[in-house]
Amino acid sequence: MKKFLALLLSLALMATLLVGCGGGEKETGKTGDTKKVEDTKKDDTKKDDAKKDDTKEPANSKTVKVGITIYKFDDNFMTLYREELERYFKEELSNDEVTYEVTVVDGKNDQAEQTNQIQTFIADKYDVIIANLVQSSAASTVVNLCKDADIPVIFINREPTAEDLDLWDKVAYVGADARQSGTMQGEIIYDLENHGDLNGDGKVSYVMVIGDPENVDAQYRTEFSIKALTDKGIEVEELVAQRGDWDQAKGQEIVAAALTQYGDQIEVVFCNNDAMALGARQAIEAADRKVGENIYLVGVDALEEVVSYVKSGDITGTVLNDHIGQAHTAADVAVKAVNGEQLEKNYTVDYVKVTK
Ligand code: GAL
Repeated sequence: MKKFLALLLSLALMATLLVGCGGGEKETGKTGDTKKVEDTKKDDTKKDDAKKDDTKEPANSKTVKVGITIYKFDDNFMTLYREELERYFKEELSNDEVTYEVTVVDGKNDQAEQTNQIQTFIADKYDVIIANLVQSSAASTVVNLCKDADIPVIFINREPTAEDLDLWDKVAYVGADARQSGTMQGEIIYDLENHGDLNGDGKVSYVMVIGDPENVDAQYRTEFSIKALTDKGIEVEELVAQRGDWDQAKGQEIVAAALTQYGDQIEVVFCNNDAMALGARQAIEAADRKVGENIYLVGVDALEEVVSYVKSGDITGTVLNDHIGQAHTAADVAVKAVNGEQLEKNYTVDYVKVTK
């Protein structure tokens, strides 16, 4: 009996050792045991996955290369836009499965330079290109380059023509309808008690500070801000209309010269963007004029600084150009393109009127 017990004990010990050494499948040849071992393996894998989740290690993640070119870095609005675009790709779209590797380059306001940058993205086999063109008229060249290389291209901010967008199905435009922003500028003036006619002579005499005449944003804002007034039966008189290249210093120069030349005749200063409106505000202050009392001033973009001037009454109003909405839409459309999804031609984000 003792011997039998001893035998049982040593058999049990051997069995424990066999299971303990973990290489049991082949030795035992029993499916039941094999399953257990596999289950253990699966559990280990699960643990590994959990570890990955904790540390956000992109170990087996796919990398998508995104090439972004901005018409020039030295532009207030496009700086906010590109920073949000980069942040959104890196912080919100990248995850364990896919890492967006984003390269943003400065087109330096030079189309030849920007076309080279796009060719470099193509040579370096980027997966998608986001382009804020220096000249919208370069769109067809850019589409054809991208089409030959089969790399989708998403245009932002500067709208290409419908024909250019129709050249290929992996092309789209993300922007805002500049007609809307112009109309809102005109409405801000119309909504004033005197509809902008400060001196009561029956017409609104204005200065128009234009962004860049080749850009549809500038064309539409210039046209539709005035149309919003004339459509409502307001008579207008253009005193000065000059190009300020979206630039604060140029806005200041243009408005300072206009104030010297036309003085009190100027009732409204329309600026195609806020950077130029900031310059105009400086010129207005230097000329001892007071916004809201003897002159009105409107911009577009809703830069933080301008919004605080709107609050304090130093700028009559602006229009929110939603760089966050546009940046997110541009990135989401780029991801769709990379995933081979069907694209629409145009994706537009609404403007919003900003007054005190
Ligand atoms: C406009 C914006 C301007 C300037 C321009 C560049 O939409 O209002 O401030 O950034 O784009 O194309």
